[in-house]
Amino acid sequence: MNNLPITDKFVSLYGDTEYRVYTSPGRINIIGEHTDYNGGFVLPGAVDKAMVAAIRFNGTDKINAYALDLNEQASFGLNEEDAPTQHWAKYIFGVIRELQKRGAVLNEGFDTVFAGDVPLGAGMSSSAALESTYAFAMNDMLALGFNKMELAKIGQATEHNYVGVKCGIMDQFASIHGKAGHLMRLDCKSGEFEYVSFDPAKYGYKVCLVDSCVKHELVGSPYNKRRESCERAVKAIQKLHPEVEFMRDAKLEWLEEVIGEITQEDYIRALYARQEVDRLLEACDAMEKGDYETAGRKMYGTHIGMSVLYEVSCEELDFVNEVAKECGVAGSRVMGGGFGGCTINIVKEDKYDNFVKTVQERYKEKFGLSCKIYPVVISDGARRLQ
Ligand code: GLA
Repeated sequence: MNNLPITDKFVSLYGDTEYRVYTSPGRINIIGEHTDYNGGFVLPGAVDKAMVAAIRFNGTDKINAYALDLNEQASFGLNEEDAPTQHWAKYIFGVIRELQKRGAVLNEGFDTVFAGDVPLGAGMSSSAALESTYAFAMNDMLALGFNKMELAKIGQATEHNYVGVKCGIMDQFASIHGKAGHLMRLDCKSGEFEYVSFDPAKYGYKVCLVDSCVKHELVGSPYNKRRESCERAVKAIQKLHPEVEFMRDAKLEWLEEVIGEITQEDYIRALYARQEVDRLLEACDAMEKGDYETAGRKMYGTHIGMSVLYEVSCEELDFVNEVAKECGVAGSRVMGGGFGGCTINIVKEDKYDNFVKTVQERYKEKFGLSCKIYPVVISDGARRLQ
């Protein structure tokens, strides 16, 4: 077995070498943002940055968890009233509780150490990676028999019920289902998906993230508010078109019909969500033909929608997006939930080095902060390592 920092720590904390090691990655998303909870499509891929955990059942009724990156320890029981106070421990606790709600029997607790290199708050789903690691591990170690989509839903329910973020399914889905060299085109309404081969190099492109290294979000609430706006718009449309379940189902004209029934704010949120559903489909068509320039233009369209209508961008990300445009980047937009984090950029190879250099210099000049560049490597999803 290979020694990892987490396994060394595991041995020094718990004096035991009979652990198993599991990992689950963060994700990127090419296009289709805030569409998952609107019943639309998403186009994510798992990345080469992941959470990794060593785990061993311990014959007690306690979970002893150690977050190596924070050097923090938490011990908690398996029942609802045993919830830990540390924010990070709630993800592990929530996953266990959600497994139990679905009939899993845990006769004992476990010892665990985890760490990861998914940047926190960068919109790359570090929390989904953590949830997926433990959901996948428990399913494997206890032979619970949940399928991958059920494991993703367990992670999502953890966010809803133990973290307070009413997220969609994209992040946990991608972390669990990821496949090297492939994106996943998921229909979030039906749950059907296909793996789409993703090889930008074949067409002369590179993909990178620019991490603004800022996070403006205040405890999930602005995210939940966006979702509530879309739900109110759906309710109004349903009065005239009862078949509409999600914004994805509504024709744009139907949204116009209820313009007097909903607030201006709810209208612009729902308008973005509905437009983004079509934008994804158009970008997918273009990419299938190797037409990254057209797909890239759609990404710029998403950025404008997320900035002006959905209002989940920020000054730093708008600036990075502007610089990308000036450098001739084919497609660029804020990625993930927003309010900070990364932009995702599809760049023609001959423009790549100049873009990376320029965006770093200009960002530093403007905000006195360094941004980080992550080249995107599409990798496998949740799995056992040792
Ligand atoms: C966050 C959520 C996802 C999704 C994205 C926006 O990452 O967890 O479910 O809604 O934001 O696309």
